[in-house]
Amino acid sequence: AAPWVYIKDLKEHVGESVCVKGWMYNKRSSGKIHFLQLRDGSGTVQGVMVKGEVPDEQFDAAKGLWLEASLEVTGVVRADSRAPSGVELTVADLKILQNPSEEYPIGKKDHGIDFLLDTRHLWLRSSRQNALMKIRNEIIWSWRCFFHDRGFMLMDSPILTGSIGEGADGLFELDYFDQKAYLAQTGQLYAEAAAMAFGKVYCFGPTFRAEKSKTRRHLTEFWMLEPEMAFYDNKMNMQLQEDLVVDTVKNVLANCEKELGALERDVEPLEKVVAGPFYHLNYRDAVRKLNELGSDIKFGDDLGADDETVLTQQYDRPVFVENYPKDAKAFYMKANPEDNGETVVCSDLLAPEGYGEIIGGSQREEDYGRLLNRMKELKMNPADYDWYLDLRKFGSVPHSGFGIGLERTITWICGLPHIREVIPFPRTIYRLKP
Ligand code: 4AD
Ligand code: MG
Repeated sequence: AAPWVYIKDLKEHVGESVCVKGWMYNKRSSGKIHFLQLRDGSGTVQGVMVKGEVPDEQFDAAKGLWLEASLEVTGVVRADSRAPSGVELTVADLKILQNPSEEYPIGKKDHGIDFLLDTRHLWLRSSRQNALMKIRNEIIWSWRCFFHDRGFMLMDSPILTGSIGEGADGLFELDYFDQKAYLAQTGQLYAEAAAMAFGKVYCFGPTFRAEKSKTRRHLTEFWMLEPEMAFYDNKMNMQLQEDLVVDTVKNVLANCEKELGALERDVEPLEKVVAGPFYHLNYRDAVRKLNELGSDIKFGDDLGADDETVLTQQYDRPVFVENYPKDAKAFYMKANPEDNGETVVCSDLLAPEGYGEIIGGSQREEDYGRLLNRMKELKMNPADYDWYLDLRKFGSVPHSGFGIGLERTITWICGLPHIREVIPFPRTIYRLKP
């Protein structure tokens, strides 16, 4: 039998008889010829079936194929410069694995976004979703290589936890036998423990936020990669973030040209990102600048989504906003010694073109007494965090880390208006299905 070949590899088999296994996403027919558009996940190719060159019953059966029929198609690969894949398949044998008995719900007409999200399990088969998921895959691979190559150890953090990671807002709470448990908002506290064991670590997994608002940048379940480094101050932390983001964009530009093209992404802004150093802006200066631009933000406020949009439209490369007021940020951040503890040693990295925050990071409070006081100020129960406080009791060191949101990063790199398409099965306030 002819060997099974993935469509992306067909061009290396010109003149050979091969078998393609996949789905028929489109079909054109005239009386004597069927053009079967095939996809197998790796690419697309046209199968040409000519009456008289295949058994008659196969030719007739092909007439009755519905979209998304699953097929094994054997034929000879022919070079065809007009085809996007550079090749075409002259069909010699058609095996139908399953022919749908009804019309495929996703047609050529424009569907509304709610319908497409309801049909997400099928929508994933489209060429646009194929491009998005390939870029997602490339970024994940690029991140893992980046940290592996730099001697970071992967340490997975738990998803079920009894310690609130970021804050009581936006927690998913559940019954855990006879206690309360939460879905992890972050793996950071565990990554800090791991950094004291292994020096440089990262965790990468799904994290959960009960976001009640419907926005274009929030999911209730999203993936976050969180590195944590012993003996790093926030300057070193920011340099690592910049290196990571530059490396990510470079890899996507180098390896996903076709996919960016399919999404009609203008790559010029991405080329600018890798061309020069990122910008740094103090929070106080950011507030001043935003006020000049018409925002009514005042010292103490976190930057709102609109503020981030306006601010990042001023820059052609990502910008670090540093040293936020402590009440706008989480309990574990290091009090800024240069600012009477009014601000914390932290930074958000904002992506250009109006995208805004993709990374949140900070130096951590390494002093036991100061951390404990801060927790008490915030009415947290130190007993719930005894294990975390232990890290400050036994060989505490300066350390820093950050969290980069995978879906925010993809949304920006792909130039999309909304985050919902960049995760296989998005979870938002009104969506738990499929
Ligand atoms: O700024 P955040 O809340 O930081 C943390 O969780 C820290 N513990 C990270 C650390 O220092 N280890 O979240 C980090 C990033 C954000 O910058 C954003 O990219 C993403 O996670 N993020 C979300 N992405 C999608 N939907 C949401 N609801 C998100 N919330 C945060
Ligand atoms: Mg943040």
